Amino acid sequence: MREDHEPDTAHITVLLAETVAILRPALRTSAALRCVDATGGRGGHSAALLAELGATDALLILDRDPTAIAALRNRFAKDPRVHIRQARFSQLAEVLAALEWGSVDAILADLGVSSPQLDEAERGFSFMRDGPLDMRMDPGAGVSASEWLATAPEAEISRVLREYGEERFARPIARAILRTREQTSITRTLQLADLIAEVLPRHEIGQHPATRSFQGIRIFINRELEELEAFLPQAMNALRAGGRLAVISFHSLEDRLVKRFFRADDYRISADIPLRASELPPLPWHPVGKALRASARETCDNPRSRSAVLRTAERSDHYAA
Ligand SMILES: C[S@@+](CC[C@H](N)C(=O)[O-])C[C@H]1O[C@@H](n2cnc3c(N)ncnc32)[C@H](O)[C@@H]1O
Repeated sequence: MREDHEPDTAHITVLLAETVAILRPALRTSAALRCVDATGGRGGHSAALLAELGATDALLILDRDPTAIAALRNRFAKDPRVHIRQARFSQLAEVLAALEWGSVDAILADLGVSSPQLDEAERGFSFMRDGPLDMRMDPGAGVSASEWLATAPEAEISRVLREYGEERFARPIARAILRTREQTSITRTLQLADLIAEVLPRHEIGQHPATRSFQGIRIFINRELEELEAFLPQAMNALRAGGRLAVISFHSLEDRLVKRFFRADDYRISADIPLRASELPPLPWHPVGKALRASARETCDNPRSRSAVLRTAERSDHYAA
């Protein structure tokens, strides 16, 4: 669904109806509902959640990107139910404590980058448009991609491209980066994209040769997997019994983390005690249904939704406060 009513919104919200539908059962029970959109972006999911809420309910919206925060403040300025904070979602527990929200009913995280981040050359995420090689979702924190590439050891660059970008040619690309930086600083997105394109022996049809490397560097620069690992237990811990957490991921590294956490695989595997599975205490949460993907119609309208996977878990009664 394109949000035509908001002129600066170039982000098309993915799995919108599915996300609201899967969270809806958690929004039916308590008197004053409290919800969290942990990745506000341009507010597409937030607006749909607000449409489900009553006058005395509340929605906390987080984003680490100051540009997104400005757009969200503008969009929801007139809605007293909305609380907006610039924060990383790994700081969820802290933000909830400051608000004195004891527990919440529903939490959503729509991971990754938004279309405005990707499309605005100045943000430095794009291998199609020239801009400063930055890639930080919050340009006020951490180091830019350019600063990192200026000093990172070859082995680290290679590991990032391989592990986070799933790039088969990680080593030759890392070598080429080191060769280039001996001559000149790598400061522009197209400079890096061209360098990568020159190294790759074959270019896949329909995919820019720098796609994987840019993804890997972006994930590393923004500590995206660490953020997710820190967020999931905080989110689950914040939910009341029967509360739901929905997470939309866009690549297998994220989705694997979410799937394992929701199934509590590590929790079960690490149960290194002489008990049968049936004798272990009940898990504090359980996955709701199967992973959901975008419909053929949605992927046709919005190609970005092709890789989206929505997983949901519900906090079980046993452990909830
Ligand atoms: C895919 S967009 C969300 C789009 C939003 N659902 C909408 O409908 O407009 C992801 C957003 O999450 C933000 N983000 C990514 N990682 C984050 C983190 N660790 N903490 C807070 N915000 C984050 C990004 O800045 C971006 O604005």
